[in-house]
Amino acid sequence: MTDILKDKFIGLGVTGSIACYKAIDLASKLTQSGASVDVILTRGAREFITALAFSSITHRPVSEDMFDPKSELSIDHVAVAERVDLIVVAPATAHTIAKLAHGLADDALTATILATGAPVLVAPAMDAHMYGNLATQENVRTLQRRGVTIVGPATGRLASGLVGKGRMVETAELMGWITLALGKTGDMAGRKVVVSAGGTQEAIDPVRVVTNNSSGKMGYAIAEAARDRGGDAVLVTAPTALPDPIGVRVVKVQSALDMQKAITAEIDDADVVVMAAAVSDWRPVETADQKIKKSASNEWTLEFTKNPDIIAGLPSDKLVKVGFAAETEDLIANAQTKLVSKGLDLIAANDVTATDSGFATDTNRVMLFDREGGIEVVPLMSKYDVGHRILDRVKHMFRQGPNDATSVGEDATGEGD
Ligand code: C5P
Repeated sequence: MTDILKDKFIGLGVTGSIACYKAIDLASKLTQSGASVDVILTRGAREFITALAFSSITHRPVSEDMFDPKSELSIDHVAVAERVDLIVVAPATAHTIAKLAHGLADDALTATILATGAPVLVAPAMDAHMYGNLATQENVRTLQRRGVTIVGPATGRLASGLVGKGRMVETAELMGWITLALGKTGDMAGRKVVVSAGGTQEAIDPVRVVTNNSSGKMGYAIAEAARDRGGDAVLVTAPTALPDPIGVRVVKVQSALDMQKAITAEIDDADVVVMAAAVSDWRPVETADQKIKKSASNEWTLEFTKNPDIIAGLPSDKLVKVGFAAETEDLIANAQTKLVSKGLDLIAANDVTATDSGFATDTNRVMLFDREGGIEVVPLMSKYDVGHRILDRVKHMFRQGPNDATSVGEDATGEGD
């Protein structure tokens, strides 16, 4: 669950599009995450969906009409405009986008948006031609110039049966944008957080690799947690099956050497690096140019050479260094040894033999060891929440103020094993 939504007030404007049904799902996810959701329906939306559908989920009054004396919101849309931390218009029709671009206020939604100082997210949903029309395009650009975030639309099958750009984005993507917008003032604001993820792949030939079972979920979750606290999150990831997180810059790599190069290119102005990637300790001495053929022999020997230890080689004068120790035995001793030998500030140790923590699961159970000998036991929780627990520690370790990060000087000392 995303803590960032807890106790927040979200205005959800719903306009007349068949994508209204997705707004029910969004209202549900926001409410489940602890937000109070004030839904405002336009007249067009009421043709597709009822206020009851929303109030059953949000347990709050729904505004249907600015002039309806029964509606709490309709009485005082200015109070709603002031109370909300964010307004999301999803789905947004071309008509409502046009009204917003021109500052019209002839219904509860447009009046509330005109009166609010909160950030506004707009998720268009319409026919592809309507979206592509110059009038809509200019209206969208006008809103963007004023600081409104336009999310989507996505390309896909439209209500008309045609395929084109006009589909409202899915709830998961909108939730990413919402937490990104709300997190802008968090304790990672002005901080560059570089996170690695996934299991590196070391090529044997063009079709074969040596890799490991890392799913990448832990690293992705840390990058999302950093983003949600306002950080400038960069995810350097080996191949995974996971979608790119919204609002996180993703750098895709394959091998340990690629990852080292990408991370080295990112750390000069970074405040913290969290190495959640399972980096292959070894790589084949040679990578064949062509697929290696099956030979007559029953045995085949592959020769390996050691990969560089990426995190151990990074400077630590301006950079907070956080590592992971995925162990199958002697968890505590191995983690403490790695903390020192790699010059880390913090190490998260996890027992990857447990079925509810470690590789591929959505949850993890770790122990955090710091340089002062401190040990924190983090019980079983979502990887996203583990990410927050790590950042709760990192925020006290920064070497410099936010936005202070400059290039590491030439005299910076790299720390080896
Ligand atoms: O593989 P090992 O247990 O030594 O990994 C511990 C930490 O060191 C992890 O954070 C991992 O990402 C990092 N590491 C690295 N470069 C390597 C091997 C591991 O940065 N070649």
